[in-house]
Amino acid sequence: MTIAGKPIPHDSAREHVTGEAFYTDDLVLRFPRMLHAWPVLAPHAHALIKTLDISAALAAPGVATVLTARDVPGEGDSGSNRHDEPLFPAEVMYHSQPVAWVLGETLDAAQQGASRVSVEDEPLPAILSIEDAILAGSFHSAPVRLARGNAPAIDFSPLRFEGELKIGGQEHFYLETQCAIAWLDETGGIAAHSSTQHPTETQEVIARVLGIPRNKVTVECLRMGGAFGGKEVQANPWAAIAALGAWKTRRPVRVRLTRALDFTLTGKRHPFLARYAAGFAKDGRLEGVRVALYSDGGWCLDLSEPVLSRVMFHCDNAYLLPAAELTGLICETHKTSQTAFRGFGGPQGMLIIEEILDQAARRLGLPPEIVRERNFYRDGDTTHYGQPVKDAGRIEIIWRRLKESSGFTERRAKIDRWNALHPHSKRGLAITPVKFGISFTATFFNQGGALVLIYRDGSVQVNHGGAEMGQGLHTKIQQIAAESLGVDSQSIRVMPTRTDKIPNTSATAASAGADLNGAAVADACSQLRSRLADVAAAILGCDLGSVRFSEGRVFTSADAQRSVPFAKICEAAYRRRVPLFAHGFYSTPGIHYDPKTLRGQPFHYFAYAAAVSEVEVDGFTGDYRLLRTDILEDVGDSLSPLVDRGQIEGGFIQGVGWLTIEELVWDSQGRLATAGASTYKLPSWTEVPDIFEVNFLERAPEPSVIFGSKAVGEPPLMLAISVREAIRDAIAQFGAGGPISLESPATPERVFFAIQRARAEREAPLNTIGAIQ
Ligand code: MTE
Ligand code: HPA
Ligand code: MOS
Repeated sequence: MTIAGKPIPHDSAREHVTGEAFYTDDLVLRFPRMLHAWPVLAPHAHALIKTLDISAALAAPGVATVLTARDVPGEGDSGSNRHDEPLFPAEVMYHSQPVAWVLGETLDAAQQGASRVSVEDEPLPAILSIEDAILAGSFHSAPVRLARGNAPAIDFSPLRFEGELKIGGQEHFYLETQCAIAWLDETGGIAAHSSTQHPTETQEVIARVLGIPRNKVTVECLRMGGAFGGKEVQANPWAAIAALGAWKTRRPVRVRLTRALDFTLTGKRHPFLARYAAGFAKDGRLEGVRVALYSDGGWCLDLSEPVLSRVMFHCDNAYLLPAAELTGLICETHKTSQTAFRGFGGPQGMLIIEEILDQAARRLGLPPEIVRERNFYRDGDTTHYGQPVKDAGRIEIIWRRLKESSGFTERRAKIDRWNALHPHSKRGLAITPVKFGISFTATFFNQGGALVLIYRDGSVQVNHGGAEMGQGLHTKIQQIAAESLGVDSQSIRVMPTRTDKIPNTSATAASAGADLNGAAVADACSQLRSRLADVAAAILGCDLGSVRFSEGRVFTSADAQRSVPFAKICEAAYRRRVPLFAHGFYSTPGIHYDPKTLRGQPFHYFAYAAAVSEVEVDGFTGDYRLLRTDILEDVGDSLSPLVDRGQIEGGFIQGVGWLTIEELVWDSQGRLATAGASTYKLPSWTEVPDIFEVNFLERAPEPSVIFGSKAVGEPPLMLAISVREAIRDAIAQFGAGGPISLESPATPERVFFAIQRARAEREAPLNTIGAIQ
């Protein structure tokens, strides 16, 4: 291969750093007479709207109109799954929920207008935590259960313990906030630019709200300035409001959330509460687990069900659970609606099993890495949901190589010596694996489409169903198309994502963007190549089988001296009336599962990785520093090594933020108290480890995926668990051995108190700790 697999920069790298890249909101100046939208926000977290008086707003200068439920010609709901997301709610379900939208000649006029809308409501009691929801029995759906083997038998395991783990949420903090612009097109339809991961669903929601068929709606996504799952379904309401405004006023309408609004109105990673019981043999082998999972779903259902199933599918991480009984409930709370976020439940599932393994190791007095490796899947094992773990051997290969390349054993000894000399700061070291299932858990989403157009000059336009959010999908698609047609990548132009090019697409999500759409593009290209090969064989006077496409020319393998430029073959094909466009399609083979029992083979394959992290923790403050991280990631045969490296580094640091410093706080009224970068601490340059070694597992093609590659978008995030475990390892050094409890995120404050507890135990060791029953 000459182009696929080459380390080329992201196709918009230059535009990203110079500021030339166009995002949805950059189109504002292209729409004369545009109106700007601003929401009227509900004053309570849970309330019934009694009256909504818009008359003063309508009279305010610069206000064009106010959108309310009366303006909706179709269905006033943007819910993607259950239709439980009214655009103009009669019952307010979370603090600051928009109840009406003001359209102004300027944003300022719209804001002034919104402040003149008077809302009278009747406040109702609000449920603001998982614990309160459990007490009140407030759930979105019936419990789900996934079971294997004899989990009650763990009551007789040599080591048995129970525990609880609280896991915090995470704000997406994409740099580009939610944004949509809608206008009436020239032929009576409606068009929208939207920063959406799922243009098809955005189209569907607009059609539903306006009560028109989908063929009247066109949605385009130029690119997104980050999405991370936050625009998988949550781009839809803003586009629906813009479209409704445009429909009513016949003028272009722009909805763009400010950072504070985006924080306040959009959903986040699901917080979880896990209550578990685990049984282990004395050698650290897991005999079984029982876990009751509760997620904070927020005010509406959103993607909480598939997120919960992915948590249950990933409660094993890379380990065999001989017996497991998992139950899950989605709590309905009066908060933002929690949604997809990089990993889609995988991170929470893995955190729970890693917590349990560390708790067991420290109770048994065994090194955590030994307990981890004793529990790895081996070839021939199946998961607790019944899927064979193909390539399980890769887990051990990665583990062994990474331990070696990171100098794990020697560093462990060095750290012990360092810790003995430093009573007030301690270093910790940990290695953790990742096994992440690739495919949408909803089987029908696993399809991709493409439309490839070749022009007579040999230049190519590629349309596909995926959207670019910074992850480098378009770069990979460009490489796939160039490789497939044997032209250079400059000849390939990947177009922005549009619903009138590829219909009925899936969200760009589940890390499957390149797997699905890349295969569809390759399918279209191979049809075109075979049509062009007929033409070339006639021109070159050679056998069809000997025609080769490479570096912008068409050859015959029979005579390397004879070749014709690709463009010439295209022109000749046109003159012979050969069609120079083709659509491609791909659907993932062999996946299925029963959503009732959660058993089956939901994933096409697993992405594997491991990381070693070393931290230094300050005993006076609980503050910590990430000294070094080594990562070994199985990306198969990388399609685009620079892009993949960026995904690994970025995903890992985003995970470090989630597990260490990013903390969401809601006040007693249900207001998000951390609604800006001043109070919500994000990882930045200072959180990047001093030494950061990222390597790919070599010679590891994945034969059933496009060009032997593997998905890379989400799996690296979960490598950050190594940092949490390294912090826990350092905390343990202040104590007397024995388990260390630590909520997530492990903020310096929580680490400080964990150190205090560890120190107290050193002074008065509890004789129950470390005991084997
Ligand atoms: N990388 C960047 N730069 N920005 C993003 O928004 N989203 C992540 C990941 N990497 C994201 C990203 C998420 S949540 C997913 S599912 C994948 O990219 C989606 O893209 P892919 O399927 O093409 O990998
Ligand atoms: N991942 C991401 N998004 C999704 C999934 C998934 O598994 N299922 C439905 N939407
Ligand atoms: Mo990613 S959470 O699947 O958009």
